[in-house]
Amino acid sequence: MDSILSTTDTLTLFCIAVLLLYFMLKCTLGWRQISGGVTAMPCLPSVPILGSLLHLRSPLPPHLFFSKLAIRYGSLFSLYMGPHYTLVVSEVTLAKDVLLHRGKDFAGRPKMVTTDVLTRGGKDIAFADYNTLWRTHRRLVQSSFALFGEGSSKLQTIVLDAADNLCSDLQACRGQAVDMGPILMRAVTNVVCRLVFGSTYEPHDPELQQVIDYNDGIVQTIARGNLVDIFPWLQIFPNKDLAKLRQCVFIRDKLLTTKLEEHKMTFTPGEPRDLLDALLSGSGGKDGVTDDHILMTAAEAFGAGVETTSTTLLWTIAFLLHYPEVQERLHAELDECVGRERRPSLSDRTGLPFLESVLCEVMRIRPASPILIPHVAMQDTSLGGHDVPKGTRVLVNIWAIHHDPKHWEQPDQFRPDRFLDGMGKRITPPSYLPFGAGPRVCVGESLARIELFLFLSCLLQKFHFSVPWGASLPDLHGRSGVVLQPKRYTVTVKPRH
Ligand code: HEM
Repeated sequence: MDSILSTTDTLTLFCIAVLLLYFMLKCTLGWRQISGGVTAMPCLPSVPILGSLLHLRSPLPPHLFFSKLAIRYGSLFSLYMGPHYTLVVSEVTLAKDVLLHRGKDFAGRPKMVTTDVLTRGGKDIAFADYNTLWRTHRRLVQSSFALFGEGSSKLQTIVLDAADNLCSDLQACRGQAVDMGPILMRAVTNVVCRLVFGSTYEPHDPELQQVIDYNDGIVQTIARGNLVDIFPWLQIFPNKDLAKLRQCVFIRDKLLTTKLEEHKMTFTPGEPRDLLDALLSGSGGKDGVTDDHILMTAAEAFGAGVETTSTTLLWTIAFLLHYPEVQERLHAELDECVGRERRPSLSDRTGLPFLESVLCEVMRIRPASPILIPHVAMQDTSLGGHDVPKGTRVLVNIWAIHHDPKHWEQPDQFRPDRFLDGMGKRITPPSYLPFGAGPRVCVGESLARIELFLFLSCLLQKFHFSVPWGASLPDLHGRSGVVLQPKRYTVTVKPRH
């Protein structure tokens, strides 16, 4: 054999082997230094890159895994997610560069198989790329939300009605241990149904159940992550999750199309009854905003608005069980500002700064989106002194930012007072981004804040929450899915006397 391979052949084979190894490493391992012509340095030997965000081969959920890597490699590091060059940002100044100061440079979204199925190829807001049509669409959605949002009594009425039903449901539990997850989910879904297409449902209405079921199917399949998002060619193989997602989307679109057609036949321009009417009046078929865009917007109000809001409420109750003294302070604040008789309203917000700060602290310590929806560089740009090529994906680790000891004293402790100044007035520390920021900031932020405030104040005005006899306190670690959720727990809900 020795004589068969000449020195040149051996050298050639060696070079090919080195090149192969180079590309394999590049595609499967992480590389630290990112730009400016500095030699790339493989340095994340254990990073499993063959997988979607939700499939990282680590026992840790992605936000904790990336936070751990940030301790080792710094607040800006890069890696490959399959073939996708990706930056991970874990520090607030860099995050604000991505979201605000260079917000337009980084306002793209990655194209993925599952989100294309979900959004008819990006006819929504969250997963569509930043372009003129998207801007028009987003503006239309914002102005439509504004019609029902802050300053309008419509949303307040909708949420307070849902809160009344929620309180009746809890009252009916008669002090038995209850899992509040499904009850909160139903209440928030009801708000979105009424807001989007004007339907009010009794608790066990089959259409409401259908909405809850298909949303749950979508959330479960997306939460499992899908390798087709990293390697689209895998679509040629049978894929149970993708099939289930398509089926749920089909049922969702059938229902929403019926609602849209009904609205088209009955709406009066200039007098919107709900979001579908407002979108129809505003679009008028011009500027490229089509029926598909309207449908996908309606669908997204559920996709983006239900799980996030109900989960935040569920976290709040979980923390109140751990911190009964905080619950006592909330009861005292409500008794003083609102009393037990009249319903809380949005005008009570200034009088309930502690309640607002509890919600802020919950969204800090357990952000519903611990990693923002991935952003993409729309052009060659830079970040933290490094060149960033067009197409680079950027993950902003909000968890790391909300737990950064440089900005938060004892970040792992639940301390709502950090959102109050010495005079007891609400403040917003700079390292706080639960809804993102800049051109891609959450469209539903003010709607979500209104819902959270009204639901929580109604619940606490009426009830006392405690750990059921013999049960343990809720686990506060959470589980990653589409949002960061608490593990299931039960609670005893007793009327306050
Ligand atoms: C507690 C509740 C909520 C939280 C914590 C939350 C948080 C977020 C976050 C972190 C983002 C990503 C921002 C980024 O990628 O930079 C986002 C985007 C979005 N949210 Fe929310 N959200 C909530 C409720 C809602 C509601 C109620 C709606 C609508 C009904 C909504 C609609 C959206 C949409 C459409 C986007 C995409 C914006 C874009 O890509 O331009 N969200 N949200």
